[in-house]
Amino acid sequence: MKKVLIIEASSRKGFSHEVAVQMKDEMSKKASVELIELRDYDITRCKGCCACFSVGSSSCPLKDDDVRLILDKLEWSDGVIFVVPNYSLSVPGILKDLFDRLAYVFHRPRLFGRVCLPVIVQGVYGGKKVAKYINEAMGFWGMKEVKGVVASGGIYPKVGLKDEIKVKNSKAIMRALEQFTKALHNEKPVQPSLFKFMIFRMTRSSMKYFDEALEPDRRYYEAKGWLDSDYYYDVEINPIKKIIGKFFDLMVKRMAHSNH
Ligand SMILES: Cc1cc2nc3c(=O)[nH]c(=O)nc-3n(C[C@H](O)[C@H](O)[C@H](O)COP(=O)(O)O)c2cc1C
Repeated sequence: MKKVLIIEASSRKGFSHEVAVQMKDEMSKKASVELIELRDYDITRCKGCCACFSVGSSSCPLKDDDVRLILDKLEWSDGVIFVVPNYSLSVPGILKDLFDRLAYVFHRPRLFGRVCLPVIVQGVYGGKKVAKYINEAMGFWGMKEVKGVVASGGIYPKVGLKDEIKVKNSKAIMRALEQFTKALHNEKPVQPSLFKFMIFRMTRSSMKYFDEALEPDRRYYEAKGWLDSDYYYDVEINPIKKIIGKFFDLMVKRMAHSNH
């Protein structure tokens, strides 16, 4: 049975909560589901010391709060649904705090094969960009992105949604869940875009050839076998992309040598 984590990120038990519960009920028919409400967790704001980048995540001075626990849940899951209210055209601070505290995962990605679905709950405008942002960030952490969905109409907290809006939102959410479920069961490894492929090859070559590369990142890449692999995970890379990859490796090697 697939494992699904639903992260609800509102400051209150409002429309996002209703949507999260609806999604939990639906997904529970075919998967093992855990719903967490971020407001119940202790997520201390990042102090910006960069210890996680330069020394390692265990050196974070805030490491005793709940952030590691949430990362464990992300790693436990096969798919994550983010149910997030649109706050000022962006994600609520608590979710941004979580992302900032886990920013070392951008350097040392670990959520490959897992599926991400952003569900944005909002009043009127801006949700699509919020969904794109979440997908972009989780893409860097390794996840497969499913196009996000926006549920609008939640302007007045004390007034419930009109029935026709509820029906419209509900239909959109069910369609998104279908796509999410499909992706969850699709075991085929995702072909990297040229951009992601380039990022991988340039990053790993920097680790190999630049003395300035961050030591925790280098160790991580080495342990994963990424210093010499085609990509982060086993996937067929077409021959032209492979040549381009070698070109990026070589380019970084030359840049490193000309720096000496
Ligand atoms: C601080 C704040 C900022 C908001 N900014 C936006 C916004 O930029 N665009 C929008 O459509 N709705 C915005 N809203 C409305 C919420 O997205 C909407 O009320 C949503 O239903 C809140 O989720 P909740 O019911 O789970 O609390 C904002 C609400 C708050 C509290």
